[in-house]
Amino acid sequence: MSHLAAKFLIKQVLHKPSSVLGLATGSTPTGTYENVIEDHRKNQTSYEQVQTVNLDEYVGLTPTDPTSYRYFMENNLFQHIDIKAKNTHIPNGKANDLQAECSRYEQLLRELGVDIQLLGIGRNGHIGFNEPGTSFQTKTHVIELAESTRKANARFFDSLEQVPNSAITMGIDSILQSKEIILLASGKNKANAIKQLASEQIDKFFPASALHQHPNVTVIADREALTFCDNTEKLQTV
Ligand code: PGA
Repeated sequence: MSHLAAKFLIKQVLHKPSSVLGLATGSTPTGTYENVIEDHRKNQTSYEQVQTVNLDEYVGLTPTDPTSYRYFMENNLFQHIDIKAKNTHIPNGKANDLQAECSRYEQLLRELGVDIQLLGIGRNGHIGFNEPGTSFQTKTHVIELAESTRKANARFFDSLEQVPNSAITMGIDSILQSKEIILLASGKNKANAIKQLASEQIDKFFPASALHQHPNVTVIADREALTFCDNTEKLQTV
């Protein structure tokens, strides 16, 4: 899964060296980033002209906080490739004026234009931090995290209490503006979400279903994430 996802990103960068990559955090994309780093070392694929935009950031965490998404990206990708620091964009969760920060970030997304967006999926179907019930028209905004999301992410913190209650996230509409979208799913705990996504029903309470409105989405899932998927005739096996 990770190897294939990395191939999409690498191909994009080779085709257009000044690509804008939309990136994600969490457990799912770490293998993808490892493959990107390995390719950079072996084949010298260059990220010098690449710009990146991340999906989301916790409110209240500094960039140097080991649980912030800025820290995650530096550690898992940016410091291992030749990308310029000024070309890596992540919402500022410490901004004094969070609404102004959301507008600034949305404007940046529009100006850059994302070529390919990497997504994970929450067990509740969230994409970015767009929790169930979020309007599909949303732009970058502040969201209260669902209790289930805070619990799922508590593994990165010392305790559940330390998981922030809110985050800045690209909205569903912001995500849908990307020219191409790759959604990754790994493990049995995503099997229900992937089953629901495969049912093709559009439902505001299942945010990932908004992806059915986009013309160029690829889902890359491992065998465990496909456990409950019965319409696998549409799937390409690699
Ligand atoms: P995960 O998170 O990759 O850590 O499972 C994905 C998500 O919640 O979007």
